[in-house]
Amino acid sequence: MSGTISMTSSNPAEAAALAAAPDPAVIAAMANAFFSALPGQPVSLPAVGDVLPTSPSVGAVPSVRSVPSVGAVPSLVAAPALPGAVPSVGAVPSLVAAPAVPGAPPVGIVTRSAPVSPFSGDAEFGALVHSLGGALSLVPQSLETAAPAAAAPAVPGESYYFLDELRAVGSGPGGGVRALPTTPALPASPAGLPTPGSLGFGLDLGLLPEAHRPETIPDLGIAPRPFDPRAIRRDFPILDEQVHGKPLIWLDNAATTQKPWAVIDRLSSFYQHENSNIHRAAHALAARATDAYEAAREKTRRFLGAASTNEIVFVRGATEGINLVAQSWGRRNVGEGDEILITWLEHHANIVPWQQLAAEKGARLRVAPVDDSGQVILEEYDRLLNSRTRIVSFTQVSNALGTVTPAREMVAMAHRHGARVLVDGAQAVSHMRVDVRDLDCDFYVFSGHKVFAPTGIGVVYGKEDVLNAMPPWQGGGNMIADVTFEKTIYHPAPFRFEAGTGNIADAAGLGAAFDYLERIGMDNICRYEHELLVYATQGLLSVPGLSLIGTAKEKAGVLSFVLDGFRSEEVGQALDQEGIAVRSGHHCAQPILRRFGQESTVRPSLALYNTCEDIDALIAALLRIQSGRGHRGV
Ligand code: ALA
Repeated sequence: MSGTISMTSSNPAEAAALAAAPDPAVIAAMANAFFSALPGQPVSLPAVGDVLPTSPSVGAVPSVRSVPSVGAVPSLVAAPALPGAVPSVGAVPSLVAAPAVPGAPPVGIVTRSAPVSPFSGDAEFGALVHSLGGALSLVPQSLETAAPAAAAPAVPGESYYFLDELRAVGSGPGGGVRALPTTPALPASPAGLPTPGSLGFGLDLGLLPEAHRPETIPDLGIAPRPFDPRAIRRDFPILDEQVHGKPLIWLDNAATTQKPWAVIDRLSSFYQHENSNIHRAAHALAARATDAYEAAREKTRRFLGAASTNEIVFVRGATEGINLVAQSWGRRNVGEGDEILITWLEHHANIVPWQQLAAEKGARLRVAPVDDSGQVILEEYDRLLNSRTRIVSFTQVSNALGTVTPAREMVAMAHRHGARVLVDGAQAVSHMRVDVRDLDCDFYVFSGHKVFAPTGIGVVYGKEDVLNAMPPWQGGGNMIADVTFEKTIYHPAPFRFEAGTGNIADAAGLGAAFDYLERIGMDNICRYEHELLVYATQGLLSVPGLSLIGTAKEKAGVLSFVLDGFRSEEVGQALDQEGIAVRSGHHCAQPILRRFGQESTVRPSLALYNTCEDIDALIAALLRIQSGRGHRGV
């Protein structure tokens, strides 16, 4: 096994400094410098004794001792040295690099129209909204034999968000604190319709009336009602919980989403009326359970736009899905000297399985860098692709930064070099319409619990011919056509990858989640969340000393930040005392946080049931924390 690290880390000064200065602040500074440097660029290491005066939160993070362990990872080979200046994608300046200066105006983000609208036309949008029928509180189907909802129309192009043109927004007197709007107002064109630019992706933050709030998105005059997040909230019983005596505000959706009654009732119904093992037994309940499981597979196919249910494999979650592909496809198709390409944005679940495969096979893991906004540098990605690249695996939406990658383009680029492509959709599926045939990826994985379904159920989509050319990765019941002591004949996909009893009830719950989302319409959700993201971005940037980490113009659902003078864990715990649930920490994505000089961030993340009130409460709590009037947390 070859297994060496060839990042630009062989700096003797680093080793000497590490040995001489076990101070976590110094190690953190060095790690940050190391991970911030693009491949081929010299690493500017801080002198021993530097304590990062502008970034106290970094120095205070104790977990930096884990940094050197990266050096023990075999086969991690970074991008090659760049000949000259590093090209940057877009002219987006880095928000991250700007130290928070008390009194200085915060930097804002403005949106503009996306080149590809998720709506093929107003009529389609009207039809989608009309399909809501004015009722968002859904009654679950009792049995899966009920007629499925009509398939949503396929929409060409990718639905992702565009945040663009960083620009200063109104920093009020008193250190940039701007009063947040409290009164809904309906901005409308003279005809009562939104201007074309305000359809989902087109809002320009700089042009928005102060009082604009996403809940006030007007309908198009042809829809029975606009998207109503307050009605949607009533579908999620846990949102009525109190924590620490305060109403729960759930802003930890990137970690897991809450479940609507439609899913909760579906599980209950399954166990009351259908529970049985599937496929084998020939009795009424076995038939019901089999129907439930296979109906969920069909709903998943429809949700992903796949060609056949044979392309839908049920697994526990995205992590298991990536491991399945790495161990089954990877072991058969990756050999010594071959290359596996990932990006700097990846969750640990999309790094470690490939490291393990590379270590086993003597292959090389290569990493496409990102620019200072957190977007993949396509020129560098392209440079890393070559005839040795066997598989590319990248996220569609970064769980740590919210970056939406140009997935379709990246898939096409990889295919030009003959590589297979896996897209990690764990953070995408709850925010945007996914169409695997449009993406043309070979594999697509996600976890049900990120898309309002139960934990313990997830999906691997794979092109049918690719799946059928892969060996099973686990052996047992259900996945066989015939077994003798001499030989086993396996079923074709998907069953060959589903050894043992599957997670039948939770698969039915996943199907119910898709039914629920289909009734609301992923395009409606996409549009609403985009506006909420703009609103939240504007609000967060009004908090003195707050720096957003991840400012790509294409973002979805995630707002990572650090707050001057506070550790992320402190902020998270202080918010929890106010009933506000966010994740703070490294988000299982240490390399990308270190790329931005951080070991940890605070990460509010959005879903369709979040409202401007949730964001207002978050901002107010942060202002209290920042002014010393809030809970101190730890
Ligand atoms: N992957 C999940 C997150 O980002 C757990 O929080």
